[in-house]
Amino acid sequence: MANAHARIERSSFLLVVLTLIVVSIGGLVEVAPLFYLEGTIEKVEGMRPYTPLELAGREIYKREGCVGCHSQMIRALRDEVDRYGHYSLAAESMYDRPFLWGSKRTGPDLARVGGRYSDEWHAEHMVDPRAVVPQSIMPAYPFLTRPLDYRRIGAHLAANRTLGVPYDEAMVAGAVADLEAQLQPETPAAAALLRRYPKAVVRDFDGNPAVISELDALIAYLQVLGTLVDVNAFRASGAEQR
Ligand code: HEC
Repeated sequence: MANAHARIERSSFLLVVLTLIVVSIGGLVEVAPLFYLEGTIEKVEGMRPYTPLELAGREIYKREGCVGCHSQMIRALRDEVDRYGHYSLAAESMYDRPFLWGSKRTGPDLARVGGRYSDEWHAEHMVDPRAVVPQSIMPAYPFLTRPLDYRRIGAHLAANRTLGVPYDEAMVAGAVADLEAQLQPETPAAAALLRRYPKAVVRDFDGNPAVISELDALIAYLQVLGTLVDVNAFRASGAEQR
């Protein structure tokens, strides 16, 4: 045995071949079972795809590089849960294309920022962060008050559908109408939106009902983050508690 070992160690070719064989077996053992798993994400109640307005806001979040300073992933660590709330569940980002979990926190985590501040706070903070948080180093985004270009929102939903997000025909066809409806509470169009997207928040977000602005979309997106799943009804075992 010791002799054979000495031979392997002296022949670099043999050593490489045998190493590769051992590593491949290890790799197979790790990877193969994943192909037989039905799903790696536990189902939780309440998750739905983003409304067209929220999706448009998410697009602005990506465009402006907010992900470079903000994470959207609360880890299961005591200090994070104390500060930001219940740790993030995998299912909460199941309709995210792509994920915006981030890897840097110059600013706070935003996974559960929805409902934490008023729309007015967000609007003021986006236009001039130092107006509400004097010591803030966040850049100002005053130009977001300009009109939102949502002509291609239907195509955007359709593209998400090709990636597995369950938008149906009616949602794609009605995307423009649904986007506008989310800013018009108490209308038949808003009722239709709510049937398609339960718990959608319908109101004018930026304080200027005359224009559908980029700020409207971005705030609609921020206000939905972390609000769809009732995390208190969820237990880590996967069982839902009522
Ligand atoms: C250069 C880094 C940086 C960038 C880029 C940035 N932020 Fe921030 N953000 C911060 C910092 C720092 C804070 C904490 C101080 C404050 O509240 O302004 C913050 C705070 C926030 C808050 C309040 C969070 C809380 O829980 O108090 C929100 C919401 C927010 N940012 C959204 C955004 C959005 C949306 C974008 C992109 C349009 C963005 N940020 C881009 C650094 C950044």
